[in-house]
Amino acid sequence: MRNEDLFALDKAHLVHPLSPVGEASRIIFNRGEGVWLYDLDGKAYLDARSQLCCVNLGYGHAGIIDAVKAQIDQLPFAALFYGIGHPPAIEAAARIAALAPGALDHVFFCSGGSEANELAFSLVRQYWSKVKPTKFKFISRYEGYHGNTAAAMTASGMDMAGMPGVPGLLAGHIHIEPPYQYRRGRDMDPDDFAVMCANELAQVIEREGADSVAAFVAEPIMGVGGYIPPPDDYWKLVREVCDTCDVLLILDEVMTGFCRTGRMFASETYDVTPDMMVLGKGMTSNYVPCGAVVFNDRVFEQVRGSYLTGVTNSGHPLATAASLAALDAYNSENICSNVEIVSREVFARLDAAAEQLDYIGEVSGKGLMIGVELTNAAGESVSGETCQQIVGKALDIGLLLRARGSRLSISPPLNISIEEAGILCDRFLEAIAAVMD
Ligand SMILES: Cc1ncc(COP(=O)(O)O)c(C=O)c1O
Repeated sequence: MRNEDLFALDKAHLVHPLSPVGEASRIIFNRGEGVWLYDLDGKAYLDARSQLCCVNLGYGHAGIIDAVKAQIDQLPFAALFYGIGHPPAIEAAARIAALAPGALDHVFFCSGGSEANELAFSLVRQYWSKVKPTKFKFISRYEGYHGNTAAAMTASGMDMAGMPGVPGLLAGHIHIEPPYQYRRGRDMDPDDFAVMCANELAQVIEREGADSVAAFVAEPIMGVGGYIPPPDDYWKLVREVCDTCDVLLILDEVMTGFCRTGRMFASETYDVTPDMMVLGKGMTSNYVPCGAVVFNDRVFEQVRGSYLTGVTNSGHPLATAASLAALDAYNSENICSNVEIVSREVFARLDAAAEQLDYIGEVSGKGLMIGVELTNAAGESVSGETCQQIVGKALDIGLLLRARGSRLSISPPLNISIEEAGILCDRFLEAIAAVMD
């Protein structure tokens, strides 16, 4: 089909998420290799965001592709309902349980991150219905993102594409302020800021009544909100508050999981063990849709023997085969150590730029999940439109970036080389300068 026909059909028939309905695509990609995406004209774009922070192993990964091809020949589908199993789901569950921290030994698969949060919340309800039925409320954070299904959307603390009332869609979800130090405590010592944020959680639990609060759900590093890391002590303190108040801790690792922060899970990076971990995206390097909730023995023992609802694609053979291959690659290709090496280089380069350029207010993050805060001449956060202009400029020069509010977000595939990271930084700084200078 001719390129112009593709653009016309796209405009007429394909509805895109988070794009103005009825507007044609700006770019159509038709090929990827390594960290590079290619459009219909063959123009190359360095994918500095792993698309939606999900293609952790880049494009054309032979190990995952071969595993999916082999599985589709062997057994393209088998549902896990009614006590039926198949090897890739069993092996992937065992591998993920072995990698997950603490007693998180039980894996319930689904098709993506939103569904995984729904499953986690329904597990929380089942757990407390047996243990203390008065506990039903969920606490999450403003600027958090947990997905696009009803409960996940309600737990998310951001404007959902301008839809009024979405944060209040379901009853019993309460939001607290995020640990966004640049906005809320720039002059504070990070340790004091961590204490302040953990105290805010404790105070809300107390006001609501600990007997009514079921779980706290949050991303280890806020993702869609702009790659906002908490101070290092935050998670240890939050875990203490949850323990004291008998509140389950759910870490949504949909973006941070699978080596993104330089460890298999960000819970390791922050040395915290949740009661449940929500997974998606990088589990298969997003070659096949897959999500999961991983939960601990404490929850497992309470739901043992009961029936949990599932989804048709729970543990899909292609997804779990892809996951096994991705897990092999994370290990055999030393992805975590590559993340640490490349991350050091990128931080060094961007920190040096921040010293020179007034408009870079902060460079923060962990591993290859890096947020860059932009400020105007008065030191105030720049507008969201300014960052979107930079994203547009970056596309012009062949760099795929992400932004929210005053933050630009960098999260390339985790097997990016030092040389490619150098190109990323060059183009990133060029795009910012083109708009800010
Ligand atoms: C932390 C987090 N949780 C959940 C989701 C939802 O995942 P999905 O879009 O696969 O349903 C996302 C997606 O960006 C996410 O970043």
